[in-house]
Amino acid sequence: MLLLVLLIGSHGMAIAVTSKSGSMPLYLVENSHRQTILVPIKLPISKLAVHEKTAHLPLAHKIERLSLMPVAENCIFDLVIDHTSDDHPWFQESNSSKTNPKRDWYFWRPPQYKNGTRYPPNNWAGYNGESAWTYDEHTGEYYLGIFSPVQIDLNWENADVRNAIYQDALRFWLDAGIDGFRIDVVSYYSKTPELPNFPADDDGFYPGIQFYVNGPHEHQYLQEMNRKVLSQYETLTVGEYANSTTNMTIMQDYVGAHRRELNTIFYFNMVAVFRNGYEPLAFNLSAWRETIAFNDAIGDPATGDGWNTVFLENHDLPRSVSSFGDETAEYRAQSAKLLSMFISTMSGTLFLYQGQELV
Ligand SMILES: *[C@@H]1O[C@H](CO)[C@@H](O)[C@H](O)[C@H]1NC(C)=O
Ligand SMILES: *[C@@H]1O[C@H](CO)[C@@H](O)[C@H](O)[C@H]1NC(C)=O
Ligand SMILES: *[C@@H]1O[C@H](CO)[C@@H](O)[C@H](O)[C@H]1NC(C)=O
Ligand SMILES: *[C@@H]1O[C@H](CO)[C@@H](O)[C@H](O)[C@H]1NC(C)=O
Ligand SMILES: *[C@@H]1O[C@H](CO)[C@@H](O)[C@H](O)[C@H]1NC(C)=O
Repeated sequence: MLLLVLLIGSHGMAIAVTSKSGSMPLYLVENSHRQTILVPIKLPISKLAVHEKTAHLPLAHKIERLSLMPVAENCIFDLVIDHTSDDHPWFQESNSSKTNPKRDWYFWRPPQYKNGTRYPPNNWAGYNGESAWTYDEHTGEYYLGIFSPVQIDLNWENADVRNAIYQDALRFWLDAGIDGFRIDVVSYYSKTPELPNFPADDDGFYPGIQFYVNGPHEHQYLQEMNRKVLSQYETLTVGEYANSTTNMTIMQDYVGAHRRELNTIFYFNMVAVFRNGYEPLAFNLSAWRETIAFNDAIGDPATGDGWNTVFLENHDLPRSVSSFGDETAEYRAQSAKLLSMFISTMSGTLFLYQGQELV
């Protein structure tokens, strides 16, 4: 009994209910009225489609349905607390004026002007390759959305923001009976306060990863979150460490039991080593061995008191059979069985992505 399903939509969270008899994947989103919506994962996950289909159902009804699900044994939710959607009430307030009390809940900065031309406050690129900043005509300032202009970075430096997250997101769901969280992009919360430019001589936009992944207060915030909330419940937490690293200290800082931050982590090297997104890259045995050894070492008592997860595919990097095996009719089943056997020999808590168990 170890099925967990994870998936992120641009505005929502996904959960899976696990059971002895099978899994019941559900998708959870928050609509513009701050109602939380639960829908089967098979539905199209476009924001509008989901909102329109279920927006009329009140939140209490969803939670009641959740607690009544007969097959549920344990259930963890995806917890998206790095950013909110643009139609979240917090952002709508923040966006309403420069003097709104929630203005500082996000990163708002004035433009820079060079020879009369308006430029964003710094040269960080978002994941679309354009500026990570979006200009708001109404207040004449830019806001920061590293993942997307509608996924707007929360300002974790502000203690009111952190406390609101702990109360409205963590305690809310833990009090409703959820057993823990898969914590989205867990390494992105602390930004270098000055939001410095990526060093470059031109006017281009560059990923400013060194200024917002493993930032200066990252571990302080995770320890605070654990102390103020998680330690008061019986929970399982899995952080999504989306960016690859071969620095063991970085991993242990997140999962070392003595650190009191996270129980375990989704470390991406193994799923990412031979692919560029959906594109398989050439197989390289020594690179594969190195990444497996690192993965196993994360939970090895000889390394520290941390614990790791094991998985071969996720929402960003799906279809392990196609990437690591042979998807033709002749070898698909053999490939899937081989990969299943392989991951079950590794050290860590095994996670199967929705659909993987069907191959
Ligand atoms: C922010 O507010 C302005 C003025 O009301 C509005 O035009 C704009 O669409 C808002 N931005 C977002 C992202 O909601
Ligand atoms: C402003 O324009 C002048 C004259 O065209 C040019 O020499 C200078 O490099 C420009 N400065 C910037 C910051 O683009
Ligand atoms: C960092 O993680 C993000 C989110 O998964 C991903 O889009 C990006 O490509 C990663 N960057 C690097 C340098 O690994
Ligand atoms: C590994 O990460 C730690 C903690 O961030 C850092 O102090 C150390 O310099 C890093 N080591 C290397 C070789 O980059
Ligand atoms: C294979 O991986 C090893 C170890 O990471 C690396 O040194 C080597 O350059 C790679 N070979 C190729 C052909 O990419």
